Amino acid sequence: MLTPLGFRLLRRLADGEIHSGEALASAVGMSRARVSQVLKEADTAGLKLERIRGRGYRLHDPLPFLDRDAVVAALGPAAKAVKVEVVDTVDSTSSELNRRSAREDVHRRLLIAEWQTAGRGRRGRGWTAVAGGSLTFSLGWRFEQGAGFLAGLSLAVGVALARALEGVGIGGVELKWPNDLTHRFCKFGGILIELSGDALGPSLAVIGVGLNVRLAPAARRGIAQPVTDLATIAHGRVIDRNVLLAALVCELTAMLDRYAVDGFAPFIPEWQRRNAFRGKSAKIILPDGSTASGDVVGVDASGALVLDHRGRRLRFVTGEVSLRRP
Ligand code: BTN
Repeated sequence: MLTPLGFRLLRRLADGEIHSGEALASAVGMSRARVSQVLKEADTAGLKLERIRGRGYRLHDPLPFLDRDAVVAALGPAAKAVKVEVVDTVDSTSSELNRRSAREDVHRRLLIAEWQTAGRGRRGRGWTAVAGGSLTFSLGWRFEQGAGFLAGLSLAVGVALARALEGVGIGGVELKWPNDLTHRFCKFGGILIELSGDALGPSLAVIGVGLNVRLAPAARRGIAQPVTDLATIAHGRVIDRNVLLAALVCELTAMLDRYAVDGFAPFIPEWQRRNAFRGKSAKIILPDGSTASGDVVGVDASGALVLDHRGRRLRFVTGEVSLRRP
């Protein structure tokens, strides 16, 4: 597990140059043996570290770290809309914001982590990410309304993220109901919305977003579904994660301000346009394992998926169901 000391060492190695064990040891005030021991942790975070006999250590790929000042600078005037915090490591940005919400106001609080030790996905699954190759963040947002009004929120978040990706030149992003970001049916991003508060409002949404920016082959092997990353979608282009993050947050805050007034309805056409299953047949797997299938019609104003099954309309609400190709 990467410790704060591990991150201090990695920041020194981030330039992709060779750093001797001795220089690293003196920079952090530890013995060379301790440095060697701590750097073994880099492998667990999915980083490829070369040990060059007699010369020192080098990160296989230079690693521009997430940096609060860089994010704020890239946000420009939009930085006023959120309170930005970047941490090296946390169990889960969403768990942390949920915990904090018990003692402080986390409205417009953006927590970004370089690495999560216990990232969470939907339906009780984990979320795999690699230090330096992912974006994992959560944003707290308070709404006057309750859970019913927020049923389409995760879909609107998908629209905002897709808009931002397109804005930085990453095209072909599709949305897979209810809240996956895909490219040619391979997943590269996920959204986890957790709501608390009164059923009729007000409520707090903790919006968690995870994106694969550059996933090493070893990390891909650990994920049990077809996955891709933004570097592949962008044909190997180097992606500045700080700039990308700012673009995502700009679109998210603009969308959330609009959603608070008008709900999901204004985002439906754009969601439909990006629907990975548009005009396709699909199979729904229900929590008890039973299935339903039909042609995907689209989504309604509450974010429910509508299928056409032999002329009969079937409606599925976001929750514990999952959507597959037949
Ligand atoms: C999914 O597709 O299952 C949703 C994945 C959501 C992952 C993000 S990463 C940031 C935030 N913190 C978490 O623990 N999960 C969300």
